[in-house]
Amino acid sequence: MIQEKTKTSAEFMALEDKYGAHNYHPLPVVLAKGEGVHVWDAEGKRYYDFLSAYSAVNQGHCHPRIINALQEQAKKLTLTSRAFYNDTLGPYEQFITEFFGYDKVLPMNTGVEGGETAVKLCRKWGYEVKGIPTNQAKIIFVTGNFWGRTLAAISSSCDPSSTKGFGPYMPGYELIPYDDLKALEEAVKDPNVAGFMVEPIQGEAGVVVPDEGYLRKAYELCKANNVLFIADEVQTGIARTGKMICCDHEGFKPDILILGKALSGGVFPVSAALARDEIMLCIKPGEHGSTFGGNPLACAVAMEALKVVEDEKLAENAEKLGQVFRDYMQKQLVDKSDYVTSVRGKGLLNAIIIDDEETGDVAWNICMKLRDNGLLAKPTHGNIIRFAPPLVMTEPQLLECCEIIEKTILNFS
Ligand SMILES: Cc1ncc(COP(=O)(O)O)c(C=O)c1O
Repeated sequence: MIQEKTKTSAEFMALEDKYGAHNYHPLPVVLAKGEGVHVWDAEGKRYYDFLSAYSAVNQGHCHPRIINALQEQAKKLTLTSRAFYNDTLGPYEQFITEFFGYDKVLPMNTGVEGGETAVKLCRKWGYEVKGIPTNQAKIIFVTGNFWGRTLAAISSSCDPSSTKGFGPYMPGYELIPYDDLKALEEAVKDPNVAGFMVEPIQGEAGVVVPDEGYLRKAYELCKANNVLFIADEVQTGIARTGKMICCDHEGFKPDILILGKALSGGVFPVSAALARDEIMLCIKPGEHGSTFGGNPLACAVAMEALKVVEDEKLAENAEKLGQVFRDYMQKQLVDKSDYVTSVRGKGLLNAIIIDDEETGDVAWNICMKLRDNGLLAKPTHGNIIRFAPPLVMTEPQLLECCEIIEKTILNFS
């Protein structure tokens, strides 16, 4: 038998270019293996992963406990659809609701479906509980939001690369500025407003952290006006920012909590909307769902992924290492380099801002050099580089990475 020649990175990239839609612009590196905080390319070169698949791989690549849960469940039962009960969904639902302190969960797959579920739940609650006239419900979003690529999600977007050429958009949304309590105070006075949906830190917008107290006060404004506070914690949740969910930093529980990404440790698309009964029971049989939502494989994986976060104290690690990272970047880069104007973030969701008025490709070129030096990160919005390594990173590893980033940028010309 003739053995097929192993392809090179260049050949793999050419295949994607020729046969795949051109809806992404990846950094030119072809990954073939992952373990913990590391990934390897097709030629066997090792890198530190500083993106973690947009915070989906918080527990590290191919975590042995999560992979074991996947394999064990895959041998028994993978999918039943919700036409029947299965012996994994109930235990998972009990586990996740107790874990996050909610009455009920609605299981979905991708993050955007979690968001869509929250929007539908909120509208239903608006009509059935709040008494908003039919088809008049509004949901408030903030500028810079990102919650995925479906039409419902892009309808709240103000980023032309998400929206241009895809209209008409879904009605019933209102946009106010992020981190602006006055604007929210005005907006929630409208009796047709059912909910306010917000990321506690805006990930895709470039790790935009609101003022301390903003989220808590926003929650209180919503409460006072009978408006649901919906937290999109698809990127900030599951220990990423140094607490199990980012709203924990300000000590309140959102009315609807959306989780995705690291809910499965990056092994499988698993998302969820969590809420109390008054909200969740507004949706009746047949009114919402998904063939794969709540499948046994997803339930087994998500339960193990959450247990790993707790057992390995990943929130505490993110909190501690995040401080180390920001202090290092401030001292060694912001204070020293002409290119880096600031560092911001919470836990291990951080970004540095590159001063790049002229060409617009400095951040991209820095990421290319970081790649050459064994660390993978990607710019967002041109001049912002997000740094979000897996939360299983150790302090010596983080310091080694800080040194790579420091040397790369100080030597950059
Ligand atoms: C805050 C937030 N919400 C929702 C999503 C959508 O998740 P998915 O890509 O799994 O649909 C993302 C993805 O980046 C996100 O960052």
